[in-house]
Amino acid sequence: MTHPNRQTRVALITGASTGLGETLAEFLSGLGWSVILTARTESDLAVVAKRLTDQGGTVVALPGDVGEAAHRERLIAAATTLGRLDWLVNNASQMGVSPIRPLLDHPLTSFEAVLRTNVVAPVALAQLALPLLKETGGLVVNLSSEAAVDVFPCAGIYGASKAALDQASRIIAAENADSGIGVTLVDPGGIRTRGYEEAEPGFDLTGVPYPDVTLPFWKWLIERSPGEVNGQRYLAQAGPWDAR
Ligand SMILES: NC(=O)c1ccc[n+]([C@@H]2O[C@H](COP(=O)([O-])OP(=O)(O)OC[C@H]3O[C@@H](n4cnc5c(N)ncnc54)[C@H](OP(=O)(O)O)[C@@H]3O)[C@@H](O)[C@H]2O)c1
Repeated sequence: MTHPNRQTRVALITGASTGLGETLAEFLSGLGWSVILTARTESDLAVVAKRLTDQGGTVVALPGDVGEAAHRERLIAAATTLGRLDWLVNNASQMGVSPIRPLLDHPLTSFEAVLRTNVVAPVALAQLALPLLKETGGLVVNLSSEAAVDVFPCAGIYGASKAALDQASRIIAAENADSGIGVTLVDPGGIRTRGYEEAEPGFDLTGVPYPDVTLPFWKWLIERSPGEVNGQRYLAQAGPWDAR
């Protein structure tokens, strides 16, 4: 179903109050997309929402925890109100306790919270978003990490969660290959963000690029059809991406 007055593309971006999520929100909003943004800390989200709105963007900012079912339903309801959903970007992520520590020293409550944010919530949001994404031929973009595939001591909880997200994404991609939607994994590479700083306090991040280093990738991805990128995993800092 196409709404004649609802042609503006819509992205739902989780974890959009800072870091990569904020950069992607600003990029898509600048292209004229409407953006639905979420993060738990209302004040941080409000700063981003105000800036994008002042720049002329259409922004729906909904603070809350993607680990909570009621909040996820609110987010998808916002897309329904806007009339469509083109990209669901599962970017919100946690690494567990700060500083990161060995897996067997990690509190299990934190392990469960990381899995809820990094794995359960993206799958749950994709479940809820599926009907809207089918209408637009939309894309689910799940943010992965090198920690999903390589062994980084002290990043075990995070790495396990991202490995699970990788596999879940590939399976959803295969299961919906004929539905017109796409499911894509993106490893942004090391980027200088609050999350990185909190994971390893004191670690020298000089030389680590800011999230806008990934903009060429997003410019490329936005031009792809869902079928082209369905089930693929991209390294955002390592183009050209067609060859993968
Ligand atoms: N930074 C890197 O070097 C790097 C490398 C590889 C992959 N990645 C991936 O890239 C993505 C972005 O990373 P980043 O470094 O920009 O992240 P970040 O700085 O840690 O920001 C995380 C964002 O997610 C939000 N968030 C966390 N838990 C949430 C929850 N339960 N519900 C709603 N929002 C939540 C945070 O806000 P609140 O805390 O206020 O909720 C914040 O907006 C992540 O998926 C990360 O795993 C990053």
